[in-house]
Formats: sequence, structure tokens, C-alpha cells
Amino acid sequence: MVDTLRSGWLTAGPKVRRFEESLREYVGSQHAVAVNSCTAGLHLALAACDIGEGDEVITTPLTFAATVNVILHQRARPVLADIRPDDYNLDPEQVERRITPRTRAILPVHFGGQPCRMDELLDIARRHGLRVIEDAAHALGARYRGRPVGSLGDATVFSFYPTKSITTGQGGMLTTDDEELARRVRLLSLHGLSHDAWDRYAAQGSWQYQVLAPGFNYVMSDVQAAMGIHQLARLEEFQATRQRYAREYTCHLAGLPGLMTPTVRDEVVHAWHLYVIRLDGSQLSVGRDRFIEELRGRGIGTSVHFIPIHYHPYYAQVLGYCRGDFPVVEAVYEGLVSLPLYPRMQESDVVRVAHAVRDTVCARRMG
Ligand SMILES: Cc1ncc(COP(=O)(O)O)c(C=O)c1O
Repeated sequence: MVDTLRSGWLTAGPKVRRFEESLREYVGSQHAVAVNSCTAGLHLALAACDIGEGDEVITTPLTFAATVNVILHQRARPVLADIRPDDYNLDPEQVERRITPRTRAILPVHFGGQPCRMDELLDIARRHGLRVIEDAAHALGARYRGRPVGSLGDATVFSFYPTKSITTGQGGMLTTDDEELARRVRLLSLHGLSHDAWDRYAAQGSWQYQVLAPGFNYVMSDVQAAMGIHQLARLEEFQATRQRYAREYTCHLAGLPGLMTPTVRDEVVHAWHLYVIRLDGSQLSVGRDRFIEELRGRGIGTSVHFIPIHYHPYYAQVLGYCRGDFPVVEAVYEGLVSLPLYPRMQESDVVRVAHAVRDTVCARRMG
């Protein structure tokens, strides 16, 4: 990063190109375009696929607002489909039932870092002529049937927000095998200009450019990319630690009445962005919110991913969904708790958290 600052080339330059090339190679895609957030990348993917007014995009209710907001930014309609009760990912059967003549794309989210059932989703997309744009904010490092996430759908977007597998402070990357889509995303990421900054300001560049589309300012800076290059080099190490800690949590908590540990499907490698337990309300004398408060009282901070999209007042109003529309996500949400999981934790922290969770469950178990 210091080298980048001293070079004088602070944005959209050689470090960005290097980071793109490294990540492209890592996931095994044909193209990679760095952007300044996953949100920006998702927005660009939709725009590059010409998804707009009157179009429908099917996605999950168990996601962060950004997934749905980008669809609305394009004046398209987010159509929610319920999740599976085992891995909390989109249920392909529910997706197929929501397809209408207006459906243009499926936007799966690899919840917590576990890849969705991509064979089924890609098959539905192929049969109905839809694009598949993956929100892989949680899933850098994950694999599906041996293939890295990032090489599966029409476009995949990763996040480098500080809590993610690797970070650039803020940042994201779109990967694709579709050359035209990559070209369009790159164009739209820098105001729709015909040449990017590197071409214009490099020694052989020209001052001339043309605006070919009303684009955005979504490019990554070289300072961010410099951080990303070094973070990516440590991804395997970070992933191994996350995996070890996830295993440790499961070792301590599996089989405990009143609590369910995550189900990991056989055909995937989980990226373990999140370790999400599910409390069984029928066996405990306290609800999830109170459980979280009790853990906080023991000095342990947890979170909930996510409040279902249709519970938020804005989406309820504009999308017209009600409570009861998505029974699986609604039941699952009542018990979700994300435990602390990050590479800088110590093994002793993991054990302490696991013991506190176990003690709280045991103290609050009925019968
Ligand atoms: C599922 C999901 N999608 C998208 C995003 C947005 O990522 P970014 O902050 O890089 O825009 C997040 C952020 O946490 C997320 O959890």
C-alpha cells in the first residue's frame, strides 16, 4: 500500500489489474472486474444484463438489503422465493414456482458461505432463458462440486468488506466467463467512458474519450487493490482457520437438545463467513432475542443474519409481501444466532464462546 501511495497512481491502475488477475486465476473465471463494493458489482451485473423496468429478479428473503436494493435501483421487481430449512439457501422448487413471463434473472445468495444448489438453479435458468447473478458476498473460497464459487453462474460478485473472507476496507469483484458482460460491466463502472483511466493517463494513452452509456463511479482504487493482493495471498490460511473453528464449534455443540448446528451439504466446501446456530424455541424457556442478551451478559457479542427482507417496512410496502408468505424463512429466523467467527480469534475464544452457549442453552432448557 505504501508503494502504491508513493507511485502516485492511486486509482484504477496497475494494482487493480494485478488484483483482478490474481482473483480471476483463483476462481478460474475468464474475466474479473474490481469494483468498490459487492453492492456496486451486483448493480453493474443487473445493468449489464439490461435488467430494468418491468423485469423480475428472483432472490431470497434471507439476505442483506443490498441484494434487493440493486434490483430496485434498476426499477425491476425483486421476487422473493422461500429458502430450504437445512442450509437456509434458496429452494430451487420455490424459485421455479415464482417464474413468470417477466422473470429475467435468478439472484442466489450463498448464505453464510455455503454454496446454493447451483445445478438445480442453473438448470431452471437454462430451461427458462434466465441469467444467474450470484451474490457471493459470503462465499469467496467456497466450492461447489469441486468448482470454486465465481466460476459457476453468468456473473458472481464478491465482497471485501472488513468482516468478509478477505478485505480491502471496502470493495468487491465481479467474475464472469462472458466477455461481452465483462466489457459492459467495465464500461459502466467508470461513467460509461470508452477508455478507462489506465488507457487515458498511461504514457501511450490519449486525452480523447467518448461516453457510451450513463455509467457509474464504481471502480476500485489502487490503494484498495494493493491491500487485496496481499489479503488474497493469505486467503487459504484464513479459510483453514475459519474451517477449524467451525469444526470446533460443531464438536462442542452438535447434539445439544434445544440447538441445531449448521448442516453442511456433501457436495460443497463451506467458506464459513458465518457460523449460524438455530435455537429450537419449543425446547427453551427464552426466545432468541433474550438468548442473545444473556450471551451478551457473559461478554459474548453475537448477531442475526438476517432480518427477512419482507419484515422491513419499506420492502413490505413496495413489494406487498406479508408475514406468512414465506413460512420456512419465518420459522428459521426465530432461532438464528451467528456466533463470533474470524481468523484472529484464538482457539481459547472459540471454546469460551461454545461453553457459554452450551451453559445458556442448558440453563434455559425446559423439562
Ligand atoms: C449477502 C450480502 N450481499 C451483499 C452485501 C454487500 O456487500 P458490500 O458491503 O461489499 O457492498 C452484503 C454485506 O454484508 C451481504 O451480506
